[in-house]
Amino acid sequence: MKKTIKDYDLSGKKVIIRCDFNVPIENGIIKDESRIKKSLKTIRYARKQGAKVILMSHLGRVKTIEDKEKYTLKPVAERLSKLLRKKVKFINETRGQNLENAIDNMKDKDVILIENTRFEDLDGKKESNNDKELGKYWASLGDIFINDAFGTIHRSHASNLGIASNIPNGLGFLVEEEIKKLTKLTNKPRKPYTIILGGAKVSDKIGVISNLITKADYILIGGGMAFTFLKAAGFNIGSSLCEREKLSYCKEMLENYPDKLILPIDVITATEIKDNTKTHERFINEIEEDEMGLDIGPRTLEVFKQYLDDCKTIFWNGPVGCFETKGFENGTKELFEIITNTKAYTLVGGGDTARAATTFNYENKISHVSTGGGASLAFLEGIELPALKIINEKK
Ligand code: 3PG
Repeated sequence: MKKTIKDYDLSGKKVIIRCDFNVPIENGIIKDESRIKKSLKTIRYARKQGAKVILMSHLGRVKTIEDKEKYTLKPVAERLSKLLRKKVKFINETRGQNLENAIDNMKDKDVILIENTRFEDLDGKKESNNDKELGKYWASLGDIFINDAFGTIHRSHASNLGIASNIPNGLGFLVEEEIKKLTKLTNKPRKPYTIILGGAKVSDKIGVISNLITKADYILIGGGMAFTFLKAAGFNIGSSLCEREKLSYCKEMLENYPDKLILPIDVITATEIKDNTKTHERFINEIEEDEMGLDIGPRTLEVFKQYLDDCKTIFWNGPVGCFETKGFENGTKELFEIITNTKAYTLVGGGDTARAATTFNYENKISHVSTGGGASLAFLEGIELPALKIINEKK
């Protein structure tokens, strides 16, 4: 068992909490704050115990100086201040005297949010490559490190693995809860167990397909990634997404698991991705050259329903259509309706799928909506997660 925040006396201590505040922000407006809300329990607990709370997170992938404006965590500090009803002091730096002074001047229960840890990536990817000195430096700012960033648990960054390598550490409530819920799927899941995979790319899901094909009863495939499989199965997919270099993988999987990998039989097509554009309902052998498949069709939903109705466990990662564009939302929306009407334990993972659950108001009808996309897949695949492994075991 890993140590958790509850295993430490936090009173008067400088507690660094690594959160995952990687939330969609457009023009300074936070579009989905679920990750922020789910981090409140740990932050509130630390404050209640009298800790000086130092929050850290990455946001987006920072590659150029211009990205700094787009990916500042300032809006998160403002939102957090409102949610906590306590001013969260934002430090627009990731290191230096100003940051150190701010920490030295903290009183018990104060909260500070440090600027996006990935700003350090502009200097030789120090954060993402877990630069040893950076991890040591950040660790020197606190007494205890709490990892509450489940979405980033599959990354070996200076701000998770690096800090944890240097000071006493434990898990926050969010990570503890995620592990508890996801373990229901790794530890003898109740059968039948069906996985729904969507999203754009097969390459993002190869690990999960290859690892879980033997554990799950069925894998239902939708979204952009379905078209690489459909092409591998010999269909003409028009202008739909296709990862040519993954065709042989898809072909091999379809040959080896013909009864387990379930592909769409009809799709909604269009020539452009635009709200209310002209759409067509096509069987998959009817897609025209200039058309893209952008959602699963009604007959596919009927087929998927048959596979889902009697399930005891369902895991879903990746929307099955471009649900944010009007005209292509039906497949994803209806699938929520189907899975929430089963008696199955339902677990949804991935930023887009979680956002779709919120958009269509199914969030509270699902057994667990994970805050991790890649992280939940990595956890289910059973691959080693160094940022989790490093956390101290309870004696
Ligand atoms: C996520 O959104 O999945 C996590 O925050 C990890 O982000 P990353 O894929 O950019 O590392």
